Amino acid sequence: MSVRAIVLAAGQGTRMKSPLPKVLHEIAGKPLVSWVVEAVAAIEPDEITVVIGYGAEEVAAALPAGVRTVHQAEQLGTGHAVMVALAELGSVDGDTVVVLPGDSPLFRPETLRNLVESHGGASATLLTAELADPTGYGRVLREGERVVGIVEEKDADQGQRAVGEVAVSTYAFAGAALSAALREVGSDNAQGEYYLTDVIAVMARDGEVRATPAADADEVLGVNSHDQLAAAAATLRGRINAHWMQAGVWMQDPERTYIDAAVVLEPGARIHADVHLLGGTTVGAGAEVGPSVLAADTTIGPEARIWYSVARGAEIGRGAEVGPYASLRQESVLAEKAKVGTFVETKKTTIGSGSKVPHLSYVGDATIGEGTNVGAGTITCNYDGVRKHPTTIGDRVFVGSDTMLVAPVTLGDDSTTGAGSTITKDVPPGALGVERSPQKVVPGYAAKRARRAAREDDE
Ligand code: UD1
Ligand code: CA
Repeated sequence: MSVRAIVLAAGQGTRMKSPLPKVLHEIAGKPLVSWVVEAVAAIEPDEITVVIGYGAEEVAAALPAGVRTVHQAEQLGTGHAVMVALAELGSVDGDTVVVLPGDSPLFRPETLRNLVESHGGASATLLTAELADPTGYGRVLREGERVVGIVEEKDADQGQRAVGEVAVSTYAFAGAALSAALREVGSDNAQGEYYLTDVIAVMARDGEVRATPAADADEVLGVNSHDQLAAAAATLRGRINAHWMQAGVWMQDPERTYIDAAVVLEPGARIHADVHLLGGTTVGAGAEVGPSVLAADTTIGPEARIWYSVARGAEIGRGAEVGPYASLRQESVLAEKAKVGTFVETKKTTIGSGSKVPHLSYVGDATIGEGTNVGAGTITCNYDGVRKHPTTIGDRVFVGSDTMLVAPVTLGDDSTTGAGSTITKDVPPGALGVERSPQKVVPGYAAKRARRAAREDDE
């Protein structure tokens, strides 16, 4: 006997009112469908098939490797989606078929494992939940204890709508019973669709249907609209943050901390409020992040400090300092104890250990050695309107404030530039580069100006 999982992800998701296929809307940097696929993968089924249709190419591209896809060209309903899948899978007689909706990202692997285990020899076992507000879900119909069917909200009468026990599109089926029951499902209902929910009445007539509740009612939320997407995101955010706090991370305010699923934090990392850690960001032990940081695909080294800043595709070394109000763009690399301070932007730039760019600078396509200080207002003029050019600054260099470094240009080790210089020629090691017009001093200027003004008034 094999366990074969089928994830239904072919629908457009019209209630999202979004051009993006519904299952590609992301939570914590991961599409809805990937949350579902990963949850079911954790119970190690023999095979995972995802039914795709609307935006098939995009959806297929987002799926993890090793997942099979089946194309449902016309989305005629959840029952039709499973028929299309079974037509491609071949015989599932003797197998357990687990079906899940691709729009429900909160299922825990334990719940799915429990569903399969409690299934035993039944025709179908459905996952259920008791909801205070069951609006929008299929209601479980029972006669006494026995489950006898599921009715969709749009087809339900008033009495049925009052039922709080819902079906959540998640089932374990005996393969042969599923194939047989699907043959009896029609589309004579409010939506003119082939409902998967309709197999339950057939199976209840011919065999045994079981129901098993989800451990937690918050697991079953299906995302049909943006408010449900936000609710699911809040739940997953809570789980992610709880996980990291249990792993030894300090969080000032977990409700205002946004950590993508793939981010890795070391124990002892400290996260202040209003921090967004996105993509493949990592944070080392003892690093202090925030308040107010957005870091995407960025390595924040141990003991580093970043606050009120944005870093995308950057590497921040051990004990380095960033901010407030810094923007580190792609390939910005700060070595140990380097500093990028207030109103500084860097791009494709390496800053050597202990070097500082403390105030009001743009540094792009540059390499800075160790122990160098870049004065306030310094700019690498890296772009000539056509091409980008490199700037190379050596070790222990003192770049005077407001230096314009017209690239390509090199400042040798131990060199100095005079404040306000526009440097267009290389400065050799140990030399001073200064470019400045001589200063003129006019003595008694204020008095002269006052006399001139008085004369003009007389005229
Ligand atoms: C469905 C269930 C409902 C359940 C709810 C739980 C049916 C008829 N209804 O309703 O009982 O309470 O989920 O969240 O099954 N899909 C396809 N092909 C299609 C149609 C849908 O692959 O032809 C996919 C969708 O992409 C989606 C999933 O199936 O991921 C569920 O479809 P959706 O339209 O969201 O169904 P609900 O109305 O939520
Ligand atoms: Ca749904």
